[in-house]
Amino acid sequence: MPDISFSEHNSAQLVAQRLDKHAEGALQTFMVPFIEHLHKLIRETRPTHADWRRTVEFLTEVGHASDGRRQEWVLLSDLLGVTALIEEINTRRPKEATPNTVRGPFYRADAPRLAMDANISLDGAGPALTVTGHVRDLDGQPIADATIETWQANSEGFYENQQPDLQPDFNLRGVFTTDARGCFRYRTVRPGGYAVPADGPVGQMLGSLGFPLRRPAHLHFLIKAEGFETISTHVYDGGDPHLGQDALFGVKEELIGDFRPTGKGDALSLDFTFVMVRAKKGRGST
Ligand SMILES: [Fe+2]
Repeated sequence: MPDISFSEHNSAQLVAQRLDKHAEGALQTFMVPFIEHLHKLIRETRPTHADWRRTVEFLTEVGHASDGRRQEWVLLSDLLGVTALIEEINTRRPKEATPNTVRGPFYRADAPRLAMDANISLDGAGPALTVTGHVRDLDGQPIADATIETWQANSEGFYENQQPDLQPDFNLRGVFTTDARGCFRYRTVRPGGYAVPADGPVGQMLGSLGFPLRRPAHLHFLIKAEGFETISTHVYDGGDPHLGQDALFGVKEELIGDFRPTGKGDALSLDFTFVMVRAKKGRGST
């Protein structure tokens, strides 16, 4: 007679056995280890009834705080490093190539296409920054006609879609194209660092446990070129004091930019090279 008495020692097997062995697909593949790890976690941490009730209440609050405009589940995944881990697993690149990082919630697909040297700061608020980018392949050859979408927070750390009444529509966003030398250049203002939302259950719970909720100042880039893997990444301000404590684990050494004073007032310049990898056969360039 098979062991049908549920116990601490066989709980994971008894539950996993209930899965339809003939069912196929990603969910089936995921569920067995999920059940095993969940039961192991419970056996090791031995929560009381009250502990488990509080856990369920927390997860319920996370669900209630999520809707079409706010995604508290994604924030939980981000702050626990799961989003960054999934990015790591899915975009392995040679060391010399520019790595991907999480895109974040403030991207807009409809930003205006602009000419070289355009100023994406529509209100001119903050220290001026000139960004010069170079897009290259792994052999150092320039990539012409690459499309560069950029978006960033203002110098106070707010994106335009967070402050629709305070900032002009499409402030600090633009789409550029590299020239024959693989270069693009635009004017903007120095971005400010910002904090992820701390007013929901995730920010409150993890914040109370000492998790950093700040993001060091950065620029976002989405770079596409025919025949190459799309780059979705950040360039961080190397002078930001929170560089080692990014709430979303996006900082990598190769993504730290040198925001240099130009000597003209508080104006700065950034020169940065992005290195693209050829798309593998069967994988689209976008
Ligand atoms: Fe951001």
